[in-house]
Amino acid sequence: MIEIRTLDDLPLPARVFYRVDYNVPMEDGRITDATRIEETLPTLKLLREKGCSVVVASHFGRPKGKRNEKYSLAPVRAKLAELLGADVQWADDCVGVDTSGLKAGDVMLLENLRFHAEEESNGESFAVELRKLADVYVNDAFGACHRAHASIEALPRLFGKDTSAGGLLLRRELQFLQQITNVDQRPFVALLGGAKIAGKIEPLEALVKLADTVLIGGGMANTFLVAKDVEMGGSLVDQDSLEVAKRILGGKERAEVVLPVDLVVADDLANPTKIETVDVENGLEAAQKAFDIGPKTVADYGSRLKAAKIIFWNGPMGVFEREAFAKGTMAMAQAMAGNGDATTVVGGGESVEAVKASGLADRITHISTGGGASLEFIAGEKLPGVEVLRK
Ligand code: 3PG
Ligand code: MG
Repeated sequence: MIEIRTLDDLPLPARVFYRVDYNVPMEDGRITDATRIEETLPTLKLLREKGCSVVVASHFGRPKGKRNEKYSLAPVRAKLAELLGADVQWADDCVGVDTSGLKAGDVMLLENLRFHAEEESNGESFAVELRKLADVYVNDAFGACHRAHASIEALPRLFGKDTSAGGLLLRRELQFLQQITNVDQRPFVALLGGAKIAGKIEPLEALVKLADTVLIGGGMANTFLVAKDVEMGGSLVDQDSLEVAKRILGGKERAEVVLPVDLVVADDLANPTKIETVDVENGLEAAQKAFDIGPKTVADYGSRLKAAKIIFWNGPMGVFEREAFAKGTMAMAQAMAGNGDATTVVGGGESVEAVKASGLADRITHISTGGGASLEFIAGEKLPGVEVLRK
């Protein structure tokens, strides 16, 4: 059992550096799902009640170490103020900010940590600059805990054991996810999708050892199908991961790895002129691209989900943002929610958005704010952001 230091271990009230994961899905400057912000409200409320001032820090997108207005956290500031029902001060950078004037209950949001390259390189001197902003450190950025980045790893190390801890959200995530990995209820079915395999390789290899069944959909399935010599036409394929896909398919691990038997395909995503269902055994034509799993696959995956005792879902089955390609993803949400006997966990920004859009979120046991992080944690990997906060 992994136990971390918590808010009770900190000398409060204090000026708090609060690391969150406000890497929320956004479309034209509008936040399409605010779960990651909402989930930090209990910690923010508690800190303010205890008389703390809070300096909130997050990354947003992947601006590659440079300032880029497209990745500004400014829209998040407005949403946070609205949800908190309080003013949120703004700092146009995350270092060199004067926080000495903050009073009890004040909240200040810093601009994107990743505007500085040293955030992702876990730079010590950058962490030293961040360290100047507060007296204690609290981490609720579960979704980023698998990254050894400066605000996640170097910074709490600088603060030291007496003044760094996890917040309420981080504690809850770890409790739930450990419950799942500790309980030996079977079958354990993992449902994996999303665009790419890259970045999910190690947890995927661990998951096939842990789960009984791994159902694969979304862009990820395309790569696995190519690995089985299926002609995938113009579909998105992660060429760099073909070898891994072959290895996973050829391995003799515990889990049965299941791939789609049919797909919904079209000539174009934005302006499809012809949407069809194709059996995988026939392959796709050159101009066809796969955008969703087909009805036979939906039926097969759905019945396997209904028989499961533990379900872990990460990544959508198709381009669910478009109605024409949302059926597979929505059907999976329904199958999960409909299985009242199973412990069900959904992790990852897009899968969470899909479950919320389906209106079934309250029938899921745990909705994790972490995508890659929850996958790695369940697969038994050590998360740098968690390790540094252990008791
Ligand atoms: C996420 O959205 O998965 C987390 O915020 C981590 O973001 P990253 O994958 O860009 O590191
Ligand atoms: Mg991600």
